[in-house]
Amino acid sequence: MLQPIAGSGGICNTRVVYGNDFGVPDSLLDQVDEAERALAEAARSDLGAEPDGTDEVAKQAYFDAVIAADQKIEPRDWMPEGYRKTLIRQIAQHAHSEIIGMQPEGNWITRAPSLKRKAILLAKVQDEAGHGLYLYAAAETLGVSREELVDLLLQGRQKYSSIFNYPTLTWADIGAIGWLVDGAAIVNQVPLCRSSYGPYARAMIRICKEESFHQRQGYEILYTLSHGTPAQREMAQDAVNRWWYPSLAMFGPPDSESTHSEQSMAWRIKRFSNDELRQRFVDMCVGQAEVLGLTLPDPNLRWNEERQAYDFTPPDFGELMRVISGDGPCNRQRMAHRRRAHSEGAWVREAAAAYAAKRARRATEGRATGESGPDRASDALAGAA
Ligand code: 3HC
Repeated sequence: MLQPIAGSGGICNTRVVYGNDFGVPDSLLDQVDEAERALAEAARSDLGAEPDGTDEVAKQAYFDAVIAADQKIEPRDWMPEGYRKTLIRQIAQHAHSEIIGMQPEGNWITRAPSLKRKAILLAKVQDEAGHGLYLYAAAETLGVSREELVDLLLQGRQKYSSIFNYPTLTWADIGAIGWLVDGAAIVNQVPLCRSSYGPYARAMIRICKEESFHQRQGYEILYTLSHGTPAQREMAQDAVNRWWYPSLAMFGPPDSESTHSEQSMAWRIKRFSNDELRQRFVDMCVGQAEVLGLTLPDPNLRWNEERQAYDFTPPDFGELMRVISGDGPCNRQRMAHRRRAHSEGAWVREAAAAYAAKRARRATEGRATGESGPDRASDALAGAA
C-alpha cells in the first residue's frame, strides 16, 4: 500500500535514497534481502562434515572449499589464525565506530529543533549503541571478550572510524551525517551482509535494515532545510561542504595503499575494494544531491561516458592518516568522553555481573531442590538494586 504513495513523486519521495527506493530494481535494500536469502540457503547446504582430527592440511582444504562455494564459516569451524585475527580487527573497529559515533549526534539531542526531531534522533543514537552491541557479540564468537576489545580501544590500540573525529557545528550536520555518513556506511556495509563469516554477515543484515531509517532521516532533514529559508539552505549547503570529503575518506586508503584489502577479499570478508565502494558512493550521491538542490563541493565532478561513472576529486588521504593516528579535530575529546563514560558506568557493569551471578546461583539451588521456572520479577528488581 505504501509503494504507490512513495512512487507518486510527492515531497516524501526522495527517489533512490536507501530505504525509500520502492520500485527501484536492485536497490540496496533488495540486496540486503537477497543476502538474507543467501544466508538461509547457506545454512541448508551441505558440503559434508569438516574433517576430524588434527590434520591442518585437510582442515585448510575444507575451509578453502567453504569459501570457494560462497558458504559461511561458523564459530565452531576451523579457521586460519590470520582469518580470525582479521575478523576481530575489522569487527572490533566497526563496533568501536558505532559506539564513538554516538557522540557527534548525541551533541544535538538536547538542541533538536522540535520534539519530533528529538525523538527521532534519540532513537537513531540508541540504534548505534545497539549496532555496537551486535558487533561486539559477533566478535565474541571468535574467542575474544567484549571487555578485552573495549580495553584495547581505551588504550588507543584499536581504531575507530575517522569520520567521528569531526565536529557537528550546526543542526544541518545531523542531516549531512544521516545522508552522507550513514549513506557511505550503507554502501560499505551492504556487501558485508555477504561476508564469509556467518555471525558477522547476520549482524550486518540487521544493521543495514536499521541504517535505512538513519539515512532517510538525515536526507529528510536536509531536504527540509534546503527547501526552507535562504539561511536554512545556506546552513544545509555548508554542512554538505564540510562532510563530503571526510565521508569519501571513510572507505579507507586507496587500493594501492590498502594493507588488508587483497587478503580480506580473497577470504570474502570484504567483497569490494575501498576504491570500488568509494566510486559507488559518489555515483549514488550525485542524483540525490540534485533532488536536494544542493551542490557537492567538487569542481571536478563530472560524468565519464567511457567509464560509466563519475570522475571526482579523491579525499586528502594525508588528512585521513593524520585523523586515524589521533590528530583529527576531535580525537582527544572523543576518547576523553569515552573513557569518562566507561569509568562512570563501572557500577552498572558491577551490578549486572552481581545480578547474573545471583541468578546462576539461584538456578543451581533450584535444580538441587527440584524447583524450576523463571525468576520472579521481584527477584530481578532486588538483584538489580
Ligand atoms: N577510519 C579509521 N581507520 C581506517 C579507515 C577509516 N576511515 N580506513 C582504513 N582504516 C585503517 C584500517 O583499519 C587499517 O588499520 P590497521 O591495519 O591498523 O588495522 C588501515 O587503516 C589500512 O586500511 P585497509 O584498507 O587495509 O583496511 P581494511 O581492509 O580493513 O578496510 C574498512 C577498511 C573499509 C573501514 C574496512 O575495515 C571495513 O569495511 N570495515 C567495516 C565497516 C566499518 O568499520 N565502518 C566504520 C564506520 S561505522 C559507521 O559508519 C557507523 C554508522 O552508523 C554511521
